[in-house]
Amino acid sequence: MPEITVLRGHAVTFTGDPFIDPGAFVDVPDALIVVTDGIITAFGAYDDVAGQLPEGVPVTDYRPALISAGFIDTHVHYVQTGIIGAYGDRLLEWLNNYSFVEEQRFSSAEYAARAAALFFDQLLANGTTTAVTFAAVYPQSAEAFFQESARRNTRMIGGKVMMDRNAPAPLLDTPESAYAQSKELLERWDGTGRNHYAITPRFAPTSSPAQLAMAGRLRQEHPTAFVHTHISETLTELALVKELFPDRTGYLDVYGHYGLIGERTVLAHGIHLTAPERDRIAQAGALIAHCPTSNLFLGSGLFDLHQAKDAARPLHVGLGTDIGAGTSFSLLATMNEAYKVAALRSHPLSALKSFYLATRGAAVGLGLADKIGSIAVGGEADLVVLDPAATPLLAYRTSRAQTTEEVLFALTVLGDDRAVAATYVAGALAHTRSP
Ligand code: GUN
Ligand code: ZN
Repeated sequence: MPEITVLRGHAVTFTGDPFIDPGAFVDVPDALIVVTDGIITAFGAYDDVAGQLPEGVPVTDYRPALISAGFIDTHVHYVQTGIIGAYGDRLLEWLNNYSFVEEQRFSSAEYAARAAALFFDQLLANGTTTAVTFAAVYPQSAEAFFQESARRNTRMIGGKVMMDRNAPAPLLDTPESAYAQSKELLERWDGTGRNHYAITPRFAPTSSPAQLAMAGRLRQEHPTAFVHTHISETLTELALVKELFPDRTGYLDVYGHYGLIGERTVLAHGIHLTAPERDRIAQAGALIAHCPTSNLFLGSGLFDLHQAKDAARPLHVGLGTDIGAGTSFSLLATMNEAYKVAALRSHPLSALKSFYLATRGAAVGLGLADKIGSIAVGGEADLVVLDPAATPLLAYRTSRAQTTEEVLFALTVLGDDRAVAATYVAGALAHTRSP
């Protein structure tokens, strides 16, 4: 017997990119979503779809709550969950003082398993159903991540960090061990269940040229795999990369030289990219993970989203929480900060564009739009239910909203995990807000 789940609510989703096409927003105030064995098999206005329902199937009615595709966090470190809100400092000092201390704990498989379970609880409580995730350098830390994802049946992207210089000795691998361990994990997990492997050189300063060459070789041998790294987050980092790679024309060229830039490449931050670098990223089809809470917390700079999404040369952009330099697991809170960063760049960000970046925009950039990121027949039923009256203040504010867009914007400004009434993973209820 097929497993059937039917949800009723105010559905919001996209059929295209609202940065280019304002008509891409789909707003169905009274919608039915029918899920059969994890796949959406019917979606539309209640009156149009109700007649197709099999006899006696229960309908979970979330009205007036909104139902969206589950959120996609395009850059996060599960191994840094324990250091969110570590006080003070800029990127390189923060890495040395906090990240590189905490990440050493993930040599213990037990520690990693406990952290992974807590991390997935946090993702799902925040309506995040897919995350592009750094583990630590230890293969067992990536193994724990994938084991937890397999238990939850989530569509996740992750990988073991590669780093062979400029970090404490216990955190270093070598070009050869990084290649061998990554390959083993990749062959076990890429395409297993709903998981994808990401070849994960931390960033140029912590990988030797020999290690980046190994990363490139692995990518060539496994073209389905993702590449996940950081780029151009701070000016100090840029100067360091210039010093370490004097033969390359710039930061992006370091990765490009080793064959690491293409489709399914996720580049976190990209605040200080040059115009030619943006062109090259657009041409390659890579995705930038914009991480506003982290960029503000570390004082890294203000990403120019308007420029990135320039219709003459649009980049794929997603939103990232970048836990633990980021300050919230919530993509709603991340949209709030993205709005403010965009405002400081003189181009405020509409709620529709924010929601797109956190759902379909990320899915398109990751090459997964046929599976996730939208509410659409044939897609996987990863969904988040958002309560516009989650708090007294939200209820007060949204009660006077005239449009759906106004409700969505209020959710980004005032919402967080309290606004997530429920999260569905492949049609199965994976989180319900506590009463
Ligand atoms: N660059 C290299 N490693 C990191 C990290 O762990 N966090 C952030 N925000 N930037 C990085
Ligand atoms: Zn990061």
